Amino acid sequence: MKVRRFPSDSLATVYVAAVVEELMSRDPHPVLGLATGSTPVNLYRQLVDFHRQGLSFSHVTTVNLDEYVGLPADHPQSYRQFMFDHLFSQIDIPLANTHMPNGMTLDLEAECDRYDAILETHPIDLQILGIGRNGHIGFNEPDISLKTRTHVIELTEDTIRANARFFDDASQVPTRAITMGIQSILQAKEIVLMAFGRDKAEAVKRSLSGEVSTDVPASFLQMHPNVTFVLDEEAAGHLEGGGAVGLPHWPLSSGANGRP
Ligand code: PGA
Repeated sequence: MKVRRFPSDSLATVYVAAVVEELMSRDPHPVLGLATGSTPVNLYRQLVDFHRQGLSFSHVTTVNLDEYVGLPADHPQSYRQFMFDHLFSQIDIPLANTHMPNGMTLDLEAECDRYDAILETHPIDLQILGIGRNGHIGFNEPDISLKTRTHVIELTEDTIRANARFFDDASQVPTRAITMGIQSILQAKEIVLMAFGRDKAEAVKRSLSGEVSTDVPASFLQMHPNVTFVLDEEAAGHLEGGGAVGLPHWPLSSGANGRP
């Protein structure tokens, strides 16, 4: 695993935007795995700036990590609306190329299957991740076991409290979400996890330097051969030093899409 440590989140964000642009320039049909939350907001702003300077997204497909259950797509806090506001409405990506779980469906099981089929058809080239204070990635919350594929998850109290800042109060935060599973995330060719601020420092440390454990879902990234943690000073604050972390990684067996 690589660690890139920057003096500020804005410099870190420019680095990640450059990684995205580099992929887009070399791949005729790149698939980006995208995340929501506060962390990637400035990344999307930077990509919109790149677009205004001539970068086209017309050949890009996106697959988002997760969506709340029970919020209509046009609800201000739905992740569909978030992506539309922060990115899709401001670039030239065809909306048909943007994939999100549908949290309003009556048949959640069928929706999870539909999403897995999308992931099979559109293997992710670059997955952007944030990380929860509890070490979650997507909405894969700490538990005694983790699900591999797309599934419905009960959000933890910690996550509901953390996300209440976007709602009038915590009682309005949905208690369930649909999320890509850990294996689907690990099947991305390349993963960039962004973490900013001191309240992420412990989760970052436990992900990078602790055991691989379902208590810290992000620790499973240690098993992927091409992961970069992009951190500001505060999020890196509990790490010793700042450069590459010499952790072993193991190739995963091929998934259904042939990706490691
Ligand atoms: P945040 O959320 O970017 O809003 O901190 C990240 C996450 O919970 O995965």
